[in-house]
Amino acid sequence: MNALADAALQARLHAVAPFSGFLVGAALEDDLGRVHTGCNVENATYGLTVCAERVAVFKALSEGARRFTRIAIAADAGTLTPPCGACRQILWEFCGDIAVTLVNLQGKSETLQLADLFPRPFDGSFLNR
Ligand code: THU
Repeated sequence: MNALADAALQARLHAVAPFSGFLVGAALEDDLGRVHTGCNVENATYGLTVCAERVAVFKALSEGARRFTRIAIAADAGTLTPPCGACRQILWEFCGDIAVTLVNLQGKSETLQLADLFPRPFDGSFLNR
């Protein structure tokens, strides 16, 4: 896990967060062992801001990756930062019940399953198609 956490910490340094000053990095591993990174990218309208996790997922999908094993998320916070609700939905839809490791700059970390962070999700299985 250390390499994935390190990749998330490295990606965090690319964050574009002039409004919040809160830099976040994510590193998503696919089933072939490839690592797809993301950082948060903020916008002057605020609402168009995209979180690090979603950037990582969309980058990975656009590179053809479809199956994922785990994600590491890095932020500078004493209390480890979990993914927001929108990111939980996106992670669930495209990655399923992966391991989610939260890390901070002091090396503190915790690993949870997405299903525990996001119980009773709505997903494509509810669509009658
Ligand atoms: N943010 C993320 O990138 N990921 C999270 O899990 C939580 C929040 C970003 C969005 C925004 O740029 C900043 O952190 C403050 O909310």
